[in-house]
Amino acid sequence: KKERKRPVRVYMDGCFDLMHYGHANALRQAKLLGDQLVVGVVSDEEIVANKGPPVLLMEERLTLVSGLKWVDEVIPNAPYEITEEFMNTLFNKYNIDYIIHGDDPCLLPDGTDAYALAKKVGRYKQIKRTEGVSSTDIVGRILLTFKQKEAGGMETTTDANQNTGATCDKVKSQLSNFLPTSRRIMQFSNGQILRSARQLGDFLLVGVHDDQAIRDRRGYRPIMHLHERTLSVLACRYVDEVIIGAPWEVSRDMITTFNISLVVHGTVTEGSSVVGIDPYTVPKSMGIFQTITSPKPITTVSVATRIIDNHEAY
Ligand code: CTP
Repeated sequence: KKERKRPVRVYMDGCFDLMHYGHANALRQAKLLGDQLVVGVVSDEEIVANKGPPVLLMEERLTLVSGLKWVDEVIPNAPYEITEEFMNTLFNKYNIDYIIHGDDPCLLPDGTDAYALAKKVGRYKQIKRTEGVSSTDIVGRILLTFKQKEAGGMETTTDANQNTGATCDKVKSQLSNFLPTSRRIMQFSNGQILRSARQLGDFLLVGVHDDQAIRDRRGYRPIMHLHERTLSVLACRYVDEVIIGAPWEVSRDMITTFNISLVVHGTVTEGSSVVGIDPYTVPKSMGIFQTITSPKPITTVSVATRIIDNHEAY
């Protein structure tokens, strides 16, 4: 008879503000270190005290974290520091075996290590931080873009390949960085709409448009290329499969090939710069199209407004 072993439970905490694939990759690695992953989402107050105000509030950050496929349980309003008291709660109430964090230093305002106690008792493990992406970086790009727009700056939709001088090129590359980043925020923010979509069937196939399709319709080129955007969508637990590089229009051929019985689209979208083309003509004519109410009115602009308001409060 086989002995039934107790599952290894691991804990990772964080702010998870403006959820990005660095966070998703951290949680994915943490889950591999155990059987069950419990995630502590740090409270708004604790973030304010340790890092400055978050852009997304507790409830929104919880929704995003809960939507990731590697997350088994969440603890809302977690503390920033692993204090002796909280560590005992993790061990005794939540049966946590290991506390996990990325290999970047996580310091308290007084310069001490937030995980020092867990390390001391040998219950700390580390994962590799994902380079090139952070909440702070996203905030910086958004601030830069909107400040420049306010000051009558460059159009955000121009082609960075046009040769219009060194200064303009620099501004444009900064601006164009922002656009795909904001798309990523939208993708993660829309985790809830993916859940609504999944509830309408047994299998959710998500079409992620290729870079050229986005460029043609929105008027700008995404710098987060197709594969990075695909990663974001795949991190969502409600997604079963992704069509990598789906065409803008849903064709009869696609519907047949993928055996699609319902095509859904949300009510909140980023507008297209091209008018008059309905990408859903075919599924509508077949009577298999449905609009679903987007659970949150959150958009790129509303997120940017919050960041600017937060920033101006200082
Ligand atoms: N993390 C990571 N790779 C990144 C960003 C974060 O592996 N690019 C990890 C952190 O090491 C941590 C967890 O994700 O274990 C949660 O991080 P969080 O508290 O949200 O904050 P930061 O480390 O400050 O990340 P960011 O700068 O993006 O807010």
